[in-house]
Amino acid sequence: MIKFIIYSLKRFAWFKRLNAKVTYEILAKRVPAAEWQFMNYGYVPNASEGPLEIPDEPEVQKYPLQMYHYLALKTDLQGKQVLEVGSGRGGGAKHIAKALKPASYVGLDLAQNAVDLANKLHKLPNLKFIQGSAEEIPLKDNSVDVVLNVESCHAYGSVEKFISEVKRVLKPGGTLALVDFRDADKMDILRRQLKNSGLECLEEENITSNVVKAIEAEDESKKARIKKLFPAKWQKLFGEFAGVVGSTFYNKLTNGTKVYHRFVLKKADT
Ligand SMILES: C[S@@+](CC[C@H](N)C(=O)[O-])C[C@H]1O[C@@H](n2cnc3c(N)ncnc32)[C@H](O)[C@@H]1O
Repeated sequence: MIKFIIYSLKRFAWFKRLNAKVTYEILAKRVPAAEWQFMNYGYVPNASEGPLEIPDEPEVQKYPLQMYHYLALKTDLQGKQVLEVGSGRGGGAKHIAKALKPASYVGLDLAQNAVDLANKLHKLPNLKFIQGSAEEIPLKDNSVDVVLNVESCHAYGSVEKFISEVKRVLKPGGTLALVDFRDADKMDILRRQLKNSGLECLEEENITSNVVKAIEAEDESKKARIKKLFPAKWQKLFGEFAGVVGSTFYNKLTNGTKVYHRFVLKKADT
């Protein structure tokens, strides 16, 4: 019954905004563990993308980190002004700011507690985290070379507003690189929203099988982390949220009712 009510309310923009804000504020406040820096489902690269050496990172976060790394490789970030919308606990931002050397990397998130946690955990000269909404980005027009967006836009009240804000802050010729999931019959809506924005779609890839492989590869360490960080009564619920093997989310990815896509878009040069 509760599941049905929440599912029905998710059709309303105000509820989606409230749901995202409350969920991520609480998670960052109640579980500020430094060992939990990512909140995406992870990615196993295609053979053609080559392996990634991660000497200093704990193995347990390898797959979510790879989601960022292989998305960011879709464009050149060196010396660029990068904005990440929905930066969460900041692990991806830290990796990209260090490994791919942008001039500056700003992580924007709706949840103030997540922003505070990320600023506390990740200190690099070219990196900072700020609070704000994807639907009202607090940056000037034409000020950013690249926008990254990792598993976040499904939670926005209005994806159209987000994309129009991205288009506003991107410099001419700038890039939006985005990964996210949708119900299989709703991916077309996201595709249309992106197309209608006037940004040019350079690439779209179905990466569902890469995400499924990552969920399976990370399952043991993810379950161990949930056991360590959450009280027993919350572990099942959080396992569902985190998409462990056997969760509703994992089952939907494997039976084809949910899909996970990667997009690369470009703002016109003039
Ligand atoms: C599933 S988490 C992913 C976090 C991060 N990208 C990662 O992969 O670890 C989604 C994030 O999007 C943020 N978010 C949701 N709605 C937002 C909005 N309207 N504006 C900015 N951030 C938002 C949430 O607070 C949360 O941190």
